[in-house]
Amino acid sequence: MQKKDISKAVINRLPRYYRYLGDLLEKDVVRISSKELSEKMKVTASQIRQDLNNFGGFGQQGYGYNVEYLHSEIGKILGLDKNYNIIIIGAGNLGQALANYVDFERRGFFVKGLFDVNPRLIGVSIRGVEVMDIDTLEEFISTNSVDIAALTVPKTKAAQLAADLAKWGIKGIWNFAPTDLQIPKEVTVENVHLAESLMKLSYRLSSKDNPEDEE
Ligand code: NAI
Repeated sequence: MQKKDISKAVINRLPRYYRYLGDLLEKDVVRISSKELSEKMKVTASQIRQDLNNFGGFGQQGYGYNVEYLHSEIGKILGLDKNYNIIIIGAGNLGQALANYVDFERRGFFVKGLFDVNPRLIGVSIRGVEVMDIDTLEEFISTNSVDIAALTVPKTKAAQLAADLAKWGIKGIWNFAPTDLQIPKEVTVENVHLAESLMKLSYRLSSKDNPEDEE
């Protein structure tokens, strides 16, 4: 089965499988049954089997899953078997926080540049990466290999920047600006909206007995 046939719900669950399997690997666990994994993850064993069957199974009857193998296979499905160069557009609070977060590197995501319009930020170094003038962005993209651009600018600036990034060949946009971007379909956008997550939390707090939603 091709990746495009896999439901979004399954894809949304894969990072969580990957994280659990990574934790097990750190504890030197060699194999795990779908029942044990399901108890840990609070997902039914049949859900796990169904999800992984989308990609050919990986399990063996009577053995369960080999943790290292499953972790690496899910990593491949998630595209984590290679490195990604990231640039961050907007070096304000959020942009700097992202640049300061070291754990992305462990997963193969490397921040190669930050860009801003604010002259007071240009030249400042965040974990060894200098904030550059936004006017140099096009040239930077044409001379460096950039896979992903994180957009952490005010929402009024996001649409134009996204259009420019698409025009200059960026294929992945990690959008934090609270707006839906209209960009060509060859560009993949992943939106991250903490405020929407908070709204879901407030909904669940007000409607009491709502279990954690399954992504
Ligand atoms: P901020 O004001 O600290 O940073 C924004 C930065 O963008 C500033 O340094 C500004 O000079 C720069 N900027 C403005 N126009 C630009 C342009 N055309 N090109 C390059 N840089 C430009 O704001 P903060 O708190 O870092 O938030 C940034 C964005 O992220 C906002 O849109 C905010 O709504 C959003 N946000 C989203 C969250 C989420 O969960 N998705 C959480 C927090 C903020």
